[in-house]
Amino acid sequence: MERIVVLTGAGISRESGLDTFRDADGIWSRYDIDDVCTPAAFRRDPALVDRFYNDRRAELHRVRPNAAHLALARLEEAARTGQWPGELLIVTQNIDDLHERAGSRNVWHMHGELLRVRCTSCGGTPEWHADCLPHTPCPLCGRPTLRPDVVWFGEIPLHMPRIEAALGACDLFVAIGTSGTVYPAAGFAALVEDHADTLEINLDPSAVSGRFERFMTGPATRMVPRWVDEILAG
Ligand code: APR
Repeated sequence: MERIVVLTGAGISRESGLDTFRDADGIWSRYDIDDVCTPAAFRRDPALVDRFYNDRRAELHRVRPNAAHLALARLEEAARTGQWPGELLIVTQNIDDLHERAGSRNVWHMHGELLRVRCTSCGGTPEWHADCLPHTPCPLCGRPTLRPDVVWFGEIPLHMPRIEAALGACDLFVAIGTSGTVYPAAGFAALVEDHADTLEINLDPSAVSGRFERFMTGPATRMVPRWVDEILAG
């Protein structure tokens, strides 16, 4: 049985209409990371940080999964029905819900989720689709202590122990649409190189392309379905 771990980044959602971070027209060309994506930024100006994520949440409601998300869901479904004798886990840096909307169930969001908020008083992470403002009360405990349920720079990504265990046990590691500049995700290829095959799918080589044995160049909507067809064909 083949065990595959796929790491996805902003590039897989680009063709759905969500901007990446570091491409020329990316989110970090319009915003400063230190203004909207650190714990200090939230302490300094919570309204600005809330507005940044409110805008992104509204944008997420206007887009749909693309052929790359759908192809990964198709592979997971093939595993579930026994059509493909393997296992697929998606570890995503993306805070969007496009993998889930495409039908994937085995998805771990290492940088959190845009459609949840986190209460710093009660620790709850309720689902959240509306705008959130600094004085919005937590629906679970009533205190006005909500923050985006996202991992900011300087914070520890989620699910790391189980992600490392899955990487340690995989046969194939595939990175799709990620620039390889943000750790720990950028270090995953190095973690698996002694026991797993590696494939990078991207428009351009990433910062860690040298760690991968194989590279598929092109837009995710074309390359990911092609790769899934290849796996299903055996
Ligand atoms: N198909 C495939 N790859 C693409 C496409 C596409 N259509 N469009 C862009 N890409 C690639 C780019 O070449 C680039 O390598 O997607 C990558 C996007 O890189 P980043 O913008 O850096 O996004 P990501 O790697 O997900 O960023 C990691 O940085 O700011 C943080 O928390 C944020 O999770 C994010 C993390």
